[in-house]
Amino acid sequence: MKIAYVIGNDNPTDPDPDLDIPFATEAAAQLDIDLVFANWNDKSIAWESFDAAVIRSTWDYVPVRDEFLKFAKTVETKTKLFNSHDVMRWNTDKKYLSVLEGKGVPIIPTKFASSIDEASSALNWAFEKAEAIAIKPTVGAGARLAGKATTKDEAIEFIKKVLEANRTAIIQPYISSVDDEGEKAIIVINGEISHVAKKVPALTKGGHGDAAGQLEITNEVREIVKTISNAVSQWNDLLFARVDVVRMDEKLVLMELELTEPWLFMQFRPAAGVDLFKALKQRIA
Ligand SMILES: Nc1ncnc2c1ncn2[C@@H]1O[C@H](COP(=O)(O)OP(=O)(O)O)[C@@H](O)[C@H]1O
Ligand SMILES: [Mg+2]
Repeated sequence: MKIAYVIGNDNPTDPDPDLDIPFATEAAAQLDIDLVFANWNDKSIAWESFDAAVIRSTWDYVPVRDEFLKFAKTVETKTKLFNSHDVMRWNTDKKYLSVLEGKGVPIIPTKFASSIDEASSALNWAFEKAEAIAIKPTVGAGARLAGKATTKDEAIEFIKKVLEANRTAIIQPYISSVDDEGEKAIIVINGEISHVAKKVPALTKGGHGDAAGQLEITNEVREIVKTISNAVSQWNDLLFARVDVVRMDEKLVLMELELTEPWLFMQFRPAAGVDLFKALKQRIA
């Protein structure tokens, strides 16, 4: 069985290496899978020669999302793609947060702004809720173009950068639990919770969404995953998912649902790689 592990171009000025690769390589070897690292930008790849393609560290798609989705749509006509193009199209724009909220998923209070005027009223709203606010693009990854602001002027500077990159800005109260308890990244493989990682707070400590350690799978972790699974119609089709949650007003709320290219933090549970490829084998058998 030949599987494409889909990667992207490196970012030479701001590196963001895929640290799942050694674990995925080892897992594939254990299962007799011929794992080929395939860059989605490489036009010479014969995608039909693979039994399946698994999107992994394609973090360079952000400024060229349309091109990336077109790529995914084409690949899907040539081999089995995980997760599907449909899921990727929905999941690569954080406007999905409103959709999920409408289906009963607790989220961080969120406003979207595609102009400075819209941003200005959203900022008034956000600063009424919290002393600091978070700004980020609707299409984004690795906390790039994201920032924390404590004044409206500071916030406008971040928003300008998002708008200049032709993207819509998300404005939210800054959730301070990310700095102590930490954001929890819940890794789900084939519908089952695999493990939970504690994330480094990107807007105060930097980095591109790294993890600082492993956390327990508690009942409240199980509960929020259940709530989200009920709200996402394609949940059963997902090979992998990462549910990033934070504590707000004492309960867990969704920061981000990563169904496209989540780092799976396999260093905390290398068996996640084996689970992933076992499930993949079953799905394409
Ligand atoms: N409202 C918020 N409060 C506190 N920190 C935030 C907030 N929004 C984003 N962050 C920080 O920025 C990071 C990136 O935001 P996220 O929504 O996960 O986008 P992405 O990971 O796709 O860039 C989060 O992991 C978190 O550290
Ligand atoms: Mg994130």
